[in-house]
Amino acid sequence: VAVAQGAAAAATDLEGLAAAMAAYELCELKKGARNLVFSDGNPKARVMVIGEAPGRDEDLQGKPFVGRAGHLLDLMFARIGLGRGDPAAERALYITNVLPWRPPQNRDPEVGEVAMMLPFLERHVDLVDPDILVLMGNHSCGALLGRKGITRLRGRWVEALGRPALPMFHPAYLLRTQLAKRDAWHDLLMLQARLRGG
Ligand code: URA
Repeated sequence: VAVAQGAAAAATDLEGLAAAMAAYELCELKKGARNLVFSDGNPKARVMVIGEAPGRDEDLQGKPFVGRAGHLLDLMFARIGLGRGDPAAERALYITNVLPWRPPQNRDPEVGEVAMMLPFLERHVDLVDPDILVLMGNHSCGALLGRKGITRLRGRWVEALGRPALPMFHPAYLLRTQLAKRDAWHDLLMLQARLRGG
């Protein structure tokens, strides 16, 4: 973790951070991954979404949330006027994950992997400097809040890395659990109200 902290702290911009992560050899996940998945969207966005880890599609394309869950994520945020392709900071999204490499067979991230890569994520948030974090799912909450239990955590504002953060159900979970979509809609409206309120 000390090596990761040093490498992350030395990065002064997003390109530098991506390069530092690409050069970081101590995380075993890198060996099994095809691509580093750093981020997508507009780095000037007010809202930064933090997912879990790349899946198969993301690993192949080197971009976060480009598979089925990503498609649903795009549809969800479009409902409140936010999109990763939008050039206006007000309507844009910036998207990354707790882990930049795909875990084998999409298994859950291990505690050690999350701890090792956390300095990079913290630096990533510092450099983007968003007004609001959206924590997508249990592993994002575990990494940034130190606790899990998304069913209880979602639907209210918490603080993560000194910023307002909204835990939400992960879109992969919503694909399996239709009923939870109602809660996700509630949370999106909370986010919209916060953005409007300044
Ligand atoms: N699930 C995630 O958490 N992140 C991705 O990038 C894709 C699927």
